[in-house]
Amino acid sequence: MEQSLYSVETPCYVVDEAGLIRNLTILKEVAEQAGCKILLAQKAFSMYAVYPLLRRYLAGTTASGLFEARLGAEEMGEENHVFSAAYVEREFDEILALCDHITFNSFAQWQKYRSRALAAGRSCGIRINPECSTQESGIYDPCAPGSRLGVTREQFRPELLEGLEGLHFHTLCEQNSDALITTLAAVEEKFGEFLPRMKWVNLGGGHHITRGDYDRGALIDCVRRFRETYGVEVYLEPGEAVALNAGFLVASVLDLVRNGIDIALLDASAACHMPDVIEAPYRPPLRHGGKPGEKRYTYRLAGATCLAGDIIGDYSFDCPLQVGDKLIFQDMAIYTMVKNNTFNGMCLPSIALRREDGKIETIRRFGYWEFKERLS
Ligand SMILES: Cc1ncc(COP(=O)(O)O)c(C=O)c1O
Repeated sequence: MEQSLYSVETPCYVVDEAGLIRNLTILKEVAEQAGCKILLAQKAFSMYAVYPLLRRYLAGTTASGLFEARLGAEEMGEENHVFSAAYVEREFDEILALCDHITFNSFAQWQKYRSRALAAGRSCGIRINPECSTQESGIYDPCAPGSRLGVTREQFRPELLEGLEGLHFHTLCEQNSDALITTLAAVEEKFGEFLPRMKWVNLGGGHHITRGDYDRGALIDCVRRFRETYGVEVYLEPGEAVALNAGFLVASVLDLVRNGIDIALLDASAACHMPDVIEAPYRPPLRHGGKPGEKRYTYRLAGATCLAGDIIGDYSFDCPLQVGDKLIFQDMAIYTMVKNNTFNGMCLPSIALRREDGKIETIRRFGYWEFKERLS
């Protein structure tokens, strides 16, 4: 029996198994048709309780460093890739033990770790920067001027390629396949001469493959062509696309105040529980919530922290809000649990899974301990 999202104790992230399966089915079909492998970028979504499900559809995980690499190894146990902008010396042996594919961000890092990685039999790659911006957002553009992410053609050292089997680039953010096609052309123009000697090319993340308007046919065609032209294995490592629109954050109204506008204070905080709302910034979709003024009653929804800017956004409703009302923010599986924090001693939202049959299972509850254990 379908259990209502309004029944959960708040604040609570509820991940939707049916939504995940919908996304995973699409990703598996794309991988099969394009002849590529798709990995989960754990930085976006690391709810390891569902890794056994993900494992049935994806080729493995990719990590941003040791801890994600260990999580991928422990909980997914499939191909385990890692890219870090700079590896920490004392962590590298453990990374070697956990990861099969290791990507370096500079030739200096490659030279530093080369012999250890090759002796361990790891497949190594280097991240390139094709210097091809296809998006406006500076903080999410690894091709922006002055970027530290990836080696530019000018800094590329062909004489150090011996032992490297892969090229990696990540330049997109929430984009369609047209941006990938543009980027691939730039990669071929700048780095094309090195492609035939590679075993694999990783096209990074930022591909919004599971979004309704995403042109999957164009992605499949361009991956196939690329693979066949250069005889390389192709990897994609999306994060968002895996759990897009597959989760909620359920919150309660704690208080209502007025200062020129009506303000509802919630037990969910933008700063603590959905930091991208402030950082990106963006306005999360809210079930039954309209744009300001669109419905009769407009409220500013805000967190209960001390941060004046802890504001989720202005939304309108058909009825006035009451203390105790529950609100359901949508698309809250990605870049939420992995980025949350306990600023002001705020409690972390519980993590629940809405099973395919509609039953909601609370997987973890948090309390004082998670706040205290990170301090000393
Ligand atoms: C190297 C790398 N791979 C994959 C991803 C995942 O991107 P997304 O979640 O936008 O698909 C990111 C995101 O920053 C990244 O930096």
